[in-house]
Amino acid sequence: MKVIICEDAAQVGAVAGAKVAQVCRRVGPGVAIGVATGSSPLETYADLAARVADGRLDLSRAYAFALDEYVGLPQGHPESYAEVVRRTVTEPLKMDPARVHAPNGFAPDLAIAGAKYEGLIKAAGGIDIQILGVGSNGHIGFNEPMSSLASRTHKVRLTPRTRADNARFFEGVDQVPEYALTQGLGTILDAQEAIMVVQGKGKAEAVAAFIEGPVSARMPASVLQLHKDVTIVLDEDAASLLEFTDYYRHTYNCRESMAQFEEN
Ligand code: F6R
Repeated sequence: MKVIICEDAAQVGAVAGAKVAQVCRRVGPGVAIGVATGSSPLETYADLAARVADGRLDLSRAYAFALDEYVGLPQGHPESYAEVVRRTVTEPLKMDPARVHAPNGFAPDLAIAGAKYEGLIKAAGGIDIQILGVGSNGHIGFNEPMSSLASRTHKVRLTPRTRADNARFFEGVDQVPEYALTQGLGTILDAQEAIMVVQGKGKAEAVAAFIEGPVSARMPASVLQLHKDVTIVLDEDAASLLEFTDYYRHTYNCRESMAQFEEN
């Protein structure tokens, strides 16, 4: 994994935006972008939105696939991930809503909905770049600790910790759904490239464990160690418990990486 340590959250977003834009240029108009919700990628989306606004990037024919969706919210609920993606990705990035998808957590049969979602991703030619955040317990998508490392899009029960972490988006933890439909770890591993953005001390333990610890279902994000092309972009706080920081700073310097992403 390429680990880029940046000064602050704004720089994390700028580096990740540059990387995603690079992949978009390389793949062309039909690029398929995997999008995470939550707080972590907001600066990345803001960076991409600025590129779209001033004409450096055109995503009007691009595809987007959300990682996950809650189960149990009414359709159109402002915190459903379909709505969050519309507000934070589709509209600011001027994407075609018909090409933006989320797992259908509202479907009566979630197994069928999961299989359909896998089919949609396949029909778009697979995901070219997957944008990820990480949960404080090491989840990616909503693949909680002890999920299968080979799973496909499936229904999960959210842990009390994840529900507590996400309570800030609702009126209280009781309002956070108990279940979700998420891309599996196997689905995420199929993306051509992945970029994870992480900010803040609250994620430092998970970051140290999944980057430098063993590959284990205990720490779902550690499965990314098995992916051929993953970039992890961290702010100083998120990187604060890593051991090999000298190596990362020397090998994947933040400013040099950004310049390189902008070049080609
Ligand atoms: C969101 C998702 C989650 C989040 C993670 C971090 O679609 O799949 O894995 O990326 O929970 O959330 P934030 O960024 O809000 O801390």
